[in-house]
Amino acid sequence: MLGSRKAVYFLGGIVVSVFSLTFSLPAMLTGAEYVSNSGCKCHMGKGCYEGEEYKERLHSNTWEKRLKGTPDAENPDCLKCHATAYGEKIAEAGKKYLPNVQCEACHGAGSEYKKVKENYEGKGKDAFKELLKKDPLMARKVQYDAGLIVAGINGPATVKEQCLKCHWETKDDKNKCPKTDKVMDYKDYFKKDDHRDNDEIDDVIKKMSPEDKKKWAALLPKDEILNTPLKPKKKE
Ligand code: HEC
Ligand code: HEC
Ligand code: HEC
Repeated sequence: MLGSRKAVYFLGGIVVSVFSLTFSLPAMLTGAEYVSNSGCKCHMGKGCYEGEEYKERLHSNTWEKRLKGTPDAENPDCLKCHATAYGEKIAEAGKKYLPNVQCEACHGAGSEYKKVKENYEGKGKDAFKELLKKDPLMARKVQYDAGLIVAGINGPATVKEQCLKCHWETKDDKNKCPKTDKVMDYKDYFKKDDHRDNDEIDDVIKKMSPEDKKKWAALLPKDEILNTPLKPKKKE
């Protein structure tokens, strides 16, 4: 599979695109807009692991349960952590924010990726699915190029730094919620929030040679937690 000359040739192109992504925000590069969880509907349906898990998480209620109906419902000081895309480009006209911590709060604005999924290279709605099967790493590159943040590795931050946009590790952090003194224990919180599943990309990564892994380093999980092998959980 990988390790062939074709793969090595292809890797040359990756280095260039990853290099440019590291220095600017994907959304700025792609002009992507936030499409909200309803725009991520492939993942939200019944039987889809990430969506099902998400609905059980506090992240899916951070505005609904904490701000809705209170004097702070539209307070920018709260929305920056309890909502998504405050002050960013949102696809639906007239929206200033998306309630709760939605998929795109961590995975980046989804409009360009949505286009890819619906009609990859103008070849219709199954084309991306087919690419995922045939060449999962290329599919991942396509996701990156569309501005998607997978594992926080194509953004300027690690996953932990992403969490720290809204969480904090000490009580006297300046970037902290005025309503609670709870602090984040990263490993523990990550475990609670982990919604990874085993997919084709993970299988390809597992079988890669150390040399190929080195070449793909910028696209592969480098986070201390994400470096550990995936433990696929059963779909319910
Ligand atoms: C820096 C990000 C941030 C800001 C700003 C922020 N929050 Fe929070 N808020 C959080 C996080 C994260 C938690 C959960 C902490 C945890 O469980 O570890 C939380 C928890 C809460 C809770 C639950 C507290 C409890 O008893 O458990 C309420 C209520 C709340 N926030 C309201 C607000 C309001 C109102 C504002 C604006 C005045 C606000 N937050 C601003 C991040 C933030
Ligand atoms: C609080 C941040 C956060 C939110 C919210 C979030 N994710 Fe994730 N997501 C992550 C992290 C961190 C990972 C792990 C990195 C990885 O393995 O790629 C991940 C991984 C994934 C993966 C890869 C899973 C795999 O099997 O490799 C998918 C797909 C995904 N998320 C979809 C979603 C969807 C859909 C939503 C909304 C319903 C969502 N995520 C909400 C942070 C988040
Ligand atoms: C956009 C802001 C935002 C980001 C980014 C974010 N969180 Fe949160 N998170 C919150 C808020 C707000 C709450 C509080 C939910 C509540 O109590 O209403 C929360 C709650 C949680 C909780 C529940 C805590 C509990 O008491 O059970 C976990 C776990 C968590 N976050 C993990 C993470 C992890 C891991 C990341 C990074 C991958 C992350 N969060 C990124 C805003 C965020």
